[in-house]
Amino acid sequence: MSNIWKTKPLGAYEADMKKSELKRVLGKWSLTAIGIGAIIGGGIFVLTGTGAYYHAGPALALSFVVAGIACIFAALCYAEFAALLPVEGSAYAYAYGTVGEVFAWLIGWGLVLEYAMGSMTVAVSWSGYFNKFLKIINVELPYYLTNDFATAKQYAVAHGLTEPNFAFNLPAFIIVLIVTSILVKGTKEAAGANNMIVILKTSVVVFVIVVGALFINMDNLTPFIPDEKMILQSDGKMGAAYGFNGIIAGAAAVFFAYIGFDAVSTQAAEAKNPRKDIPFAIITSLLVCTALYILMSLVLTGMMSYKDFGSVPDALTAPVAVAFEKATGMNWAVILITVAATIGLISVLLVMMLGQSRIFLGMAKDGLLPKMFKEIHPVRKTPYKNTILLGLIVATVAALTPISTLVHMCSFGTLFAFTMVCFAVWLLRVKKPELKRGFKTPMLPVVASLGILINIYLIINLEPSAIYMAIGWLALGLLIYFLYGRRNSVLNKGGYDEFIEK
Ligand code: ALA
Repeated sequence: MSNIWKTKPLGAYEADMKKSELKRVLGKWSLTAIGIGAIIGGGIFVLTGTGAYYHAGPALALSFVVAGIACIFAALCYAEFAALLPVEGSAYAYAYGTVGEVFAWLIGWGLVLEYAMGSMTVAVSWSGYFNKFLKIINVELPYYLTNDFATAKQYAVAHGLTEPNFAFNLPAFIIVLIVTSILVKGTKEAAGANNMIVILKTSVVVFVIVVGALFINMDNLTPFIPDEKMILQSDGKMGAAYGFNGIIAGAAAVFFAYIGFDAVSTQAAEAKNPRKDIPFAIITSLLVCTALYILMSLVLTGMMSYKDFGSVPDALTAPVAVAFEKATGMNWAVILITVAATIGLISVLLVMMLGQSRIFLGMAKDGLLPKMFKEIHPVRKTPYKNTILLGLIVATVAALTPISTLVHMCSFGTLFAFTMVCFAVWLLRVKKPELKRGFKTPMLPVVASLGILINIYLIINLEPSAIYMAIGWLALGLLIYFLYGRRNSVLNKGGYDEFIEK
């Protein structure tokens, strides 16, 4: 059993980097745009209503501060690691070099929750926005072609229609295949598409903040932290809301909106100057989005009372568009926000799938996944087989599965990885203080321990059913590791022995 705790020698990462067949095409700003491209998405446009109404009230901005702080601690730790080990496996690779193989595998397996399940969630949200957009231009697709079977059945019952025999979320399926083809084509093409989308969606967020600020009614923001009280929650049960606990529960609920900055670290092998530019991009993209999110949530709860989010139609599913329209009377803004969210989500999908394929690549190079995951296209220089397989799985699951709990499972996978990165970066500082680090996390013991505590605290605040399912997923991962990974591991077969320091 002892070999499951073996760590990958750091020299082997250097050799990986030299051998990498991927093209180094990404500069500092493209990397920052990758971070923003993955962060700003459905979260800010959808979860803010739920966060304000069910949890924090006007103090939603403080929930964004709490979740932002948790992410900033993790981001500082990611930055140190990414500068030290600029390889594509991200948290998986960092854990392999420090804590040991079985843990690294668990993190990699957990990252599937973040990236692949995140992609499924985003694909289904995209389909929702796309349908809203189609309705605006008076096109309506049949409900059984825009929902999974379970959701379509509920829809039929609610609308007094005959129950369907078949349902398939076609837009979700198609968008994943389109994104897959862009990713197979090349990283430069994918980054180019991402840059344009980021400019568009960031401009719309800034527009909502600046114009919305002119329509803030201070009465809506007073009291800023309403007293804690019991209200009917979304699951039909009475639960506590507002006050301090409401701010924390709100932070867990909106955490999804921040997911994505760590995806920058999966691009290390394609960055022109990874040791400097990856830390810069991780921290810059997160700081920009944190500032935008805090301002956006203040403006939102200032424009419309948090109490109204529960009663105004569509305010819980499209809070930004609805609050903006109500407060400003600008009907066309709904179209603008819907278009921005529809296009904006494509870049989240692009970066999430890009990240997942690179993590698979890293794991396959170490022998923990089959060889096909590391095959690189001779011309396009992308891991095309793994990208296509990933695309087919994400597209199919997204077309057939309801997603409500998936969001929380995705947050679980991310928080789990963040916690491990905070722990691992600290461990490596203690074990190997002499290593030359391109970026050093300031006050590491404080940052890492607070990062670990806040991330665990947020995990505990996720939906219990999602926590159980995520734990089940990790248990399945362990089984696969013992059946496949341990036997095929390059490290266990002695493939990295030449790099072991004597
Ligand atoms: N942060 C991303 C979003 O909100 C995942 O869509």
